[in-house]
Amino acid sequence: MDRARSRAPEGKAGLEGVVAGETSISYIDGLKGRLYYRGYTIEDVAKNCTFEEASYLLIKGRLPNSKELASFSAGLVRLRNLPDHIVSMMKTFTSKMSSMEALRTSVSALSSDDPDARISSIDDKLKTGLSVIAKMPTIVAYHHRIKNGLPIIRPDPKLGHAANFIYMLTGAAPDEETAKILDTDFVLHADHGFNASTFSVRVTVSTLSDVHSAFVTGISTLKGPLHGGAAMEVITMLKRISTPKNVEKYVLARLAAHDKIMGYGHRIYRTYDPRARILKATAGRLSKQKGNTRWMEMGEQLEKIMQEQKNIYPNVDFYSAIVYHSIGMPLELSSPIFAIGRSSGWLAHMIEQYTNNRLIRPIEQYTGELNLRFVPLKKRK
Ligand SMILES: CC(C)(COP(=O)(O)OP(=O)(O)OC[C@H]1O[C@@H](n2cnc3c(N)ncnc32)[C@H](O)[C@@H]1OP(=O)(O)O)[C@@H](O)C(=O)NCCC(=O)NCCS
Repeated sequence: MDRARSRAPEGKAGLEGVVAGETSISYIDGLKGRLYYRGYTIEDVAKNCTFEEASYLLIKGRLPNSKELASFSAGLVRLRNLPDHIVSMMKTFTSKMSSMEALRTSVSALSSDDPDARISSIDDKLKTGLSVIAKMPTIVAYHHRIKNGLPIIRPDPKLGHAANFIYMLTGAAPDEETAKILDTDFVLHADHGFNASTFSVRVTVSTLSDVHSAFVTGISTLKGPLHGGAAMEVITMLKRISTPKNVEKYVLARLAAHDKIMGYGHRIYRTYDPRARILKATAGRLSKQKGNTRWMEMGEQLEKIMQEQKNIYPNVDFYSAIVYHSIGMPLELSSPIFAIGRSSGWLAHMIEQYTNNRLIRPIEQYTGELNLRFVPLKKRK
């Protein structure tokens, strides 16, 4: 029996510190806590752009002029409706199906209407991708209403991407402030370098698989609690902690048990996540307006203890969870909302990968045995 002697890995576990490819879509400076979309600071993009405008920037590589933005936005509006057979299929989902599972399955099923042949051009792939981006809020809203025994509400072409999503969920167009809050949240989630779901999207595309498959890969990877599933866990945790005076005891017990505090920590940021800073300001403002600052007080204490104990800061999921709750978003929709925002980054990365593709296929460090003596089935004990 031999022990395998493969090369020592050059990076740490989890590909930490490994440069896996080039991109000009977004850049994270983890030491300074900065994030850029196509060279613009996230603060500028979040303050000045709608989701549609930020999507144009990410996907096309530059800011649109008014005419280009109007045409891009109108294109998304035209693509919002779901084919009847997708709605019929969603009605067959059992009540146990989560909203992320429904999103994953429905996006996959959409491919039957829009077959993305291997030979299709980059332009065709772009059109297919925009169709998925436009339909994702419709899928999430329809599934939520069907699951709760409510009639579906068709998209309103007069409303923007974020406002229309709230309208399809609730039946009422949101006020300007609420629509802007969700719109900014979509912008803040739209792209983040080679995060796990985006990287998985690029791996799928690198085999020259199709656009729908790449979205399904992204949704599937985002679903995990270490990635887009964290926001939901944050609310569960805050409810469990219940009051500011319980924070210290709770955190110390979790840390002693080597458990993770959800909404904290990041592979790249070694300081405050700039997206969390923007969302914290929004969460604080909403909490004051609603006269309930308990969760923000708990957040402050969590921040203090996590910095003292582990030098770890809140990530995008911590304060976004409080924001979603404050604007009345159902808890189960936290991850799908993240997915709706991230969809434009996924498409930007798909196009970048298709345009300059080479199969992504890293090497592994084999740790097993070699040249074992083969024992036939009949002779095995
Ligand atoms: C995001 C995350 C997966 C990054 O993981 P990572 O880069 O692999 O970091 P590690 O899990 O190796 O953690 C490194 C150290 O920080 C600690 N740590 C990281 N995140 C932590 C958290 N949320 N709570 C407590 N400790 C944490 C680890 O215990 C480890 O400590 P140690 O060196 O003393 O053992 C991780 O921070 C995490 O699980 N966070 C909670 C889930 C979450 O909020 N995800 C959303 C990300 S946007």
